[in-house]
Amino acid sequence: MQKILDAILADELDAIATLPVPESYRGVTVHEEDTAMFDGVATKDKDPRKSLHLDDVPTPELGPGEALVAVMASAINYNTVWTSIFEPMSTFGFLKRYGKSSPLALKHDLPYHVVGSDLAGVVLRTGPGVNAWKPGDRVVAHCLDVQLEHADGHNDTMLDPEQRIWGFETNFGGLAELALVKSNQLMPMPDHLTWEEAASPGLVNSTAYRQLVSANGANMKQGDTVLIWGASGGLGSYATQFALNGGATPICVVSSPEKAELVRSMGAELIIDRSAEGYRFWKDEHEQDPKEWKRFGSRIRELTGGDDPDIVFEHPGRETFGASVFVARKGGTIVTCASTSGFLHQYDNRYLWMSLKRIVGSHFANYREAWEANRLVAKGKIHPTVSKVYSLEETGQAAHDVHRNAHQGKVGVLCLAPAEGLGVRDHELRAAHLPHINRFRGV
Ligand SMILES: NC(=O)c1ccc[n+]([C@@H]2O[C@H](COP(=O)([O-])OP(=O)(O)OC[C@H]3O[C@@H](n4cnc5c(N)ncnc54)[C@H](OP(=O)(O)O)[C@@H]3O)[C@@H](O)[C@H]2O)c1
Repeated sequence: MQKILDAILADELDAIATLPVPESYRGVTVHEEDTAMFDGVATKDKDPRKSLHLDDVPTPELGPGEALVAVMASAINYNTVWTSIFEPMSTFGFLKRYGKSSPLALKHDLPYHVVGSDLAGVVLRTGPGVNAWKPGDRVVAHCLDVQLEHADGHNDTMLDPEQRIWGFETNFGGLAELALVKSNQLMPMPDHLTWEEAASPGLVNSTAYRQLVSANGANMKQGDTVLIWGASGGLGSYATQFALNGGATPICVVSSPEKAELVRSMGAELIIDRSAEGYRFWKDEHEQDPKEWKRFGSRIRELTGGDDPDIVFEHPGRETFGASVFVARKGGTIVTCASTSGFLHQYDNRYLWMSLKRIVGSHFANYREAWEANRLVAKGKIHPTVSKVYSLEETGQAAHDVHRNAHQGKVGVLCLAPAEGLGVRDHELRAAHLPHINRFRGV
């Protein structure tokens, strides 16, 4: 491993193909034997530091269409939080089902799960049938693992019945020194970014791009008013950038003055601090309070000068969904990709049908959408939102921060990279965007 790392650090990437691949590597795992460890514990008290391990695991065999990548850096996504607290179900069920789908996939069904759905690194080896990538290529990986053997996925790969999220529904994820991906997950690493910066946008940037910009999602256009929940968080920090870049007006919902300042510094002018304004959309566990929806809607109109949101960018789920449906404008779109606070939503359907609103489901992104989202990062039009970087050993703490909503933007993890700040090739482009790239740092 050290020789591989030395070659990468010296930027002598032609040598990579000649260096032996290690038989094992360090990866962040959950263990199947631990799946009941949090039984009876409240979700908020389930602690990823107890369930995430750093193990030495065997290097998987490389199959057709696959690539083995030396991972320099990765990032925490909420799916690693879900995996680590075994909610809403253990991911070992995903691995078992995947293992049964083909002889090639059988290797994923193991009593440990190497997690992580983002990476920046260097291709070490490619399997048979891979022509677009070669050892030594500097890459990032998006997390759509797709078979494409069925007709269903050929208009939009997200519709393939064998579509999975790499490092969540498959093994050998990115929070590790090596990772196994399908070669059609690879994209060029933006040259003006460090490893940890390049590793951080992938999953959330692609998801927010499909959800908000793509015709498969809300199909945002210039002039739209977009209500963005969690506007300084993982998804929201990219949705806010897309809205501002695309000529829309974001209304950013956050929960502290520091977060409000962050989105203001990105260029957002309309901001709601949901904690300061004390919205309580649920009277108790069972009943919502439409008066609070109305108070929220009035606040939006006050900020916009009377406009209701054309698009509501939803992911908190149960706690906010009733309000989201209520405040969307007549004919507007509520686009949802998650349910962080609970997946059984409740809303008043009269506000949906009478006002001809639409609820659109969105999930990750197809290769083309992920590629377009990555290209925006590479051109310096969308910027990483890394606030803090941890070592691989500290991944449990990093996931704990995200679980407690104690982070801003994205939390990075160094895998093989020995320090932050390495990997930049295009210093001129970096210099042109440095304040934007560093906006979330240390906040
Ligand atoms: N389907 C997909 O492909 C996909 C992809 C990425 C993520 N996701 C899911 O999307 C969710 C968010 O992911 P993320 O990476 O953006 O997470 P994140 O970094 O934790 O950001 C989420 C933000 O939502 C806000 N929030 C949390 N709970 C809330 C509540 N009850 N009411 C209102 N706002 C709330 C918080 O902001 P404030 O406290 O500042 O308001 C938080 O910063 C997760 O459940 C994740 O699993 C799905």
